[in-house]
Amino acid sequence: MKNNMITALDIGSSFVRVLIAKTAKDNSLEVLGSSEVPSSGIEKGIVKDIEAVSECVKKALQEAEKASGLKAVNIFTNITGEHIRSNVGDGRISIPSESPNEPGEISQDHVDQVINDAKNGIKILKGYERATILHGIPQSFVIDGQDDIHNPVKMNGFHLITKVYTIFGDITPLRNLAKCIELAGYDIDPDNFVLNHIAVSEAVLTEDEKRLGTVLIDIGGGTCDISLFRKGVLEKVMVVPMAGSAITEDLAIGLKTTISSAEYIKKEYGNAYAASVDPNVEIEVDGISGRESHSRTQYLVSHVIQHRVEEMLSLCYDKLKNCYTPELVTAGIVLTGGTARLQQIDRVVESAFNMHTKIARPNVSRLTGLVGSLDDPAWATAVGLLYHVAALDRELKTSSFSLGKIKNNKIFDSIKKIIKDFTTA
Ligand SMILES: Nc1ncnc2c1ncn2[C@@H]1O[C@H](COP(=O)(O)OP(=O)(O)OP(=O)(O)O)[C@@H](O)[C@H]1O
Ligand SMILES: [Mg+2]
Repeated sequence: MKNNMITALDIGSSFVRVLIAKTAKDNSLEVLGSSEVPSSGIEKGIVKDIEAVSECVKKALQEAEKASGLKAVNIFTNITGEHIRSNVGDGRISIPSESPNEPGEISQDHVDQVINDAKNGIKILKGYERATILHGIPQSFVIDGQDDIHNPVKMNGFHLITKVYTIFGDITPLRNLAKCIELAGYDIDPDNFVLNHIAVSEAVLTEDEKRLGTVLIDIGGGTCDISLFRKGVLEKVMVVPMAGSAITEDLAIGLKTTISSAEYIKKEYGNAYAASVDPNVEIEVDGISGRESHSRTQYLVSHVIQHRVEEMLSLCYDKLKNCYTPELVTAGIVLTGGTARLQQIDRVVESAFNMHTKIARPNVSRLTGLVGSLDDPAWATAVGLLYHVAALDRELKTSSFSLGKIKNNKIFDSIKKIIKDFTTA
């Protein structure tokens, strides 16, 4: 890796965040510069205005360069969106040996081969022609019928079989994201795109959580990125195209105010659990474009928020329900991302899923230098990108290795109803 430098570029729907860091021999990472700029031109993980995104990327990278006094090199960025797909494929190879009845020794090359065999087996299926492989995650290995082998390197066998969970992204959104970075005047290697879910998990989950079973949800501005971990590996990823921006938009509609005022009210007074809010507290709300300001109760604000949060969770549940058994997700739910800062969101998630819910901030114990603001759920992706890349680099160097009821488009009507109930009461 160039001068041991890593630039983590988190291109989100609400913010672009950058960390420039240097890897040290003791596995720690020294953060030399960071930046956070509001993003524009990207919605639900997808580039909608290439010039606008590239301007934000340029500003964020330049600010981080200024803070660190270094050039942003070795850029790694996150990717998400509804185009993310995944599938499980089987790979199988024979292990060569000196005699036909003697099992051969399995090398790292054999492991790479069998993983590639599984990944390519899916890639050739119909429907994946315009998709590119982002990650291939072996679930387990089987050597001559012995299953649950964690690391087959140096073991002996005639045949090596694996199941690989393969994650794809469509080529078009990837190309457009790469173009934003190039238009900003920087280079990105096509292999340097990391699925947002994977980056986030590296920052916030412990090995115990991965092993015992966890549903991780990164609730940002545009998407809920859901990951299911069991037995230490990533089993499933899902994307729900709805998050904090939808809450803000509901408030703007419901309170008849601007998006910026709704965003302020959400962060300052918002609570995802309306029943816990004092019904007598009034909030001054700005009118739109010079119209008179008016007052609304904090209870109404929280009611609108809770309604959208439940809608969002219902979509998450719809995605998850066929692929997890709550009893097997022993560690429960972990929430991160900017919207995890919303007061009492964990309480609403906990009661909706009937599972223990924790809000997670990135683990910054491996970081030195300018770590100040990073102990915050909104920084999970950027910190996770650093850990992910540092781990890849080490591998290379060592060369081993009551939901479901609310339906989507009814939200507008229900917000109107809530507002009506409150204003006519
Ligand atoms: N204190 C807070 N209370 C409620 N919401 C908050 C708070 N702080 C931030 N948010 C919300 O978090 C969202 C931004 O989160 P984040 O920075 O993780 O998003 P992003 O990474 O840019 O978006 P995405 O990951 O969806 O592409 C915004 O909708 C913002 O309003
Ligand atoms: Mg994000």
